[in-house]
Amino acid sequence: MLKKLKLILLLALISGSPVFAQKQIGTETYAQKQKRMEWWTDSRFGMFIHWGLYSGAARHEWVKHNEKIDNAGYQKYFDQFNPDYFDPKKWAHAAKAAGMKYAVLTTKHHEGFCLFDSKYTDYKAPNTAAKRDLVREYVNAYRAEGLKVGFYYSLLDWHHPDYTIDEIHPQSPKDKSDASYAQLNKGRDMAKYRQYMRNQITELLTNYGKIDILWLDFSFPNKNGHGKGKDDWGSVELLKLIRKLQPGIIVDNRLNLEEYKDGADFETPEQVSTAELAKYRGKTWETCQTFSGSWGYYRDENTWKTHRQLLDLLITSVSNGGNLILNVGPTARGEFDYRATRALDSLATWMHANNRAIYNCTFAPDIYKVPENDKLTYNAKTKRLYVHLYDYPAGGTITLPGYAGKIKYAAFLNDASELLYKPSATNPDDLILTLPAKKPLYEIPVVELTLN
Ligand code: GLC
Repeated sequence: MLKKLKLILLLALISGSPVFAQKQIGTETYAQKQKRMEWWTDSRFGMFIHWGLYSGAARHEWVKHNEKIDNAGYQKYFDQFNPDYFDPKKWAHAAKAAGMKYAVLTTKHHEGFCLFDSKYTDYKAPNTAAKRDLVREYVNAYRAEGLKVGFYYSLLDWHHPDYTIDEIHPQSPKDKSDASYAQLNKGRDMAKYRQYMRNQITELLTNYGKIDILWLDFSFPNKNGHGKGKDDWGSVELLKLIRKLQPGIIVDNRLNLEEYKDGADFETPEQVSTAELAKYRGKTWETCQTFSGSWGYYRDENTWKTHRQLLDLLITSVSNGGNLILNVGPTARGEFDYRATRALDSLATWMHANNRAIYNCTFAPDIYKVPENDKLTYNAKTKRLYVHLYDYPAGGTITLPGYAGKIKYAAFLNDASELLYKPSATNPDDLILTLPAKKPLYEIPVVELTLN
């Protein structure tokens, strides 16, 4: 019995699917999926962009919810929206320089405002002072930089008249009673909203050429009957439509299709700590993280992550076999805030010197022990192992535990300068690597080991 269970678990692991998720929507095999996702897995690093009317309020993209603002009260952000400095070529350039390989832009966030030109609503950028389809310019600019292009589309819509009031809607009833919900939802029709979503997603996936990623956000079933999930969105049919329109597209996991093996392409641990990322080893995932606490531009938010924290997120993601998508929240004038720019510039410097330890890398096989206080990434194709020196040794040496006979060359990655090593006098299985007394300029320098 135990043997059988082990076998099932092993098979599930090999096929990359949770044991419970045996139902399938399409016919793609695991190998085909891996092939489809190869560019994404190899890329490891992307840029998220949250931009909308909330950028003007400048106090969180959930401001409409947090402050219980209704459509009339929110109208001022639409009337004021005038991104006179919007130049996505600059954004794309910054992303590329930082070593990001793809981007995902909020074409519509929970507030319902569309940055693109849609036939199905007037609540869109072309009707603001911007007077044009901002998504199109984003697509063109990022594509021109050779980056892959993704769309975020909010399943929630706090502006649409047919979107029913649920527990997290800005106008949810204080008393939370079924009667109040029923009263508020008179005349609202989710079937119409579902069709609206399908129409808009069809526009997004037909009017802009090849779209590489669709990031749908999010499901919240089980809120005492006032949440939303797969039946509300029509998720199965929606996913079929998406795959029909863009067969190569990569879709996130927020449609509430957990019971299907192919209900999602990747998991999306949001704002989790680096310690938690180890849990995701062996899965396909991307952690989404902000530079500070908010996704949308938040002027007075001051918990900006340090350069070291950002590097740690990137390295730890790759060292556990996942991607990192880092978010920028441009201002309502359409620029990256100086704090975001500074953070991106620092990442650009590090990535220029060390990106070989990121792209096409994953966690190291178990036979390579992690040197104390460091982290490892590994490229199976080039047979290189990367030691990320979190703690630059004052003594000038580090021990590579059990590495004797396993490597043939060691060098700093940033300047390809050789690092000498020899077997340890106390344990010949270990190698002692000598480092210069002066730490290279990089916050976390990387040693590249060429494996035997
Ligand atoms: C969330 C939030 C949101 C943000 C997203 C990014 O679910 O609702 O504002 O867009 O996560 O992961």
